[in-house]
Amino acid sequence: APSPFVVAIDGPAGSGKSTIARLLARKIGASYLDTGALYRAIAFYLDGRSVPPEEGEPLRCALAELTVSLRGERVFLGDEDVTDRIRTPRVDSIVSRYAALGPVRESLLDLQRSQSRLGPLVADGRDMGTVVFPEADVKIFLSASPEERARRRWRELVDRGETLTCEEVLFQVIRRDRIDSDRTLAPLREAEGAFSVDTTDLSVEEVLSHLCDLMKPDLSGRLGDV
Ligand code: CDP
Ligand code: CDP
Repeated sequence: APSPFVVAIDGPAGSGKSTIARLLARKIGASYLDTGALYRAIAFYLDGRSVPPEEGEPLRCALAELTVSLRGERVFLGDEDVTDRIRTPRVDSIVSRYAALGPVRESLLDLQRSQSRLGPLVADGRDMGTVVFPEADVKIFLSASPEERARRRWRELVDRGETLTCEEVLFQVIRRDRIDSDRTLAPLREAEGAFSVDTTDLSVEEVLSHLCDLMKPDLSGRLGDV
């Protein structure tokens, strides 16, 4: 089969991955895959059933019962659309503990890779360029200072009616980055050959146009007039 076209985007929380991935997908006529949503959905399910974030029989049984699926950009647990219920401070605070577990990561590998067989794909997460799509056509690593990333996340949470301080969000963001970067399996790392952009002082538009310049040779014909 012809190899699928994949853009792999990684980076820590609030670096702008999903914003940039969506825009880029639209620009090149690709689908967008939010792999964080898959880990959030599993964490939401396991937390709701009080399955502790550790390997063992309870985890194995729960994963065997559970079906995570995608319909377009909506995430389902069984027949239930959980897309709007997985972006809460509660899920933010527990997801990384579950995402560090081998059985959880393995259970999502096929679903992630299968999305690239449907057509061109822009996928974002922590291990897109390193583990899930090591052969990706383009790899991107986004970063920004923890303070700026916390500010971005805090604004989104406040807009959704959550009452937290920016300091609380900063604390959570730093804690989650540390768990994601320190774990043994698929830790957050810049993939070899990735275009790396520090977005701290850049607007979304600036990041996008900078990336389009960097990617031009790899995307010949796919970008239209940028
Ligand atoms: O949007 P944000 O960057 O805050 O997080 P997310 O992309 O929704 O990911 C939530 C969590 O899922 C991360 O903190 C990781 O623990 C985990 N994750 C992962 O382990 N591998 C991925 N490819 C994507 C997410
Ligand atoms: O997916 P990730 O957690 O990396 O970030 P996101 O969900 O895309 O959230 C980033 C937030 O910061 C969004 O509200 C963007 O509008 C904003 N932002 C950005 O993504 N990039 C910039 N250069 C500036 C702001």
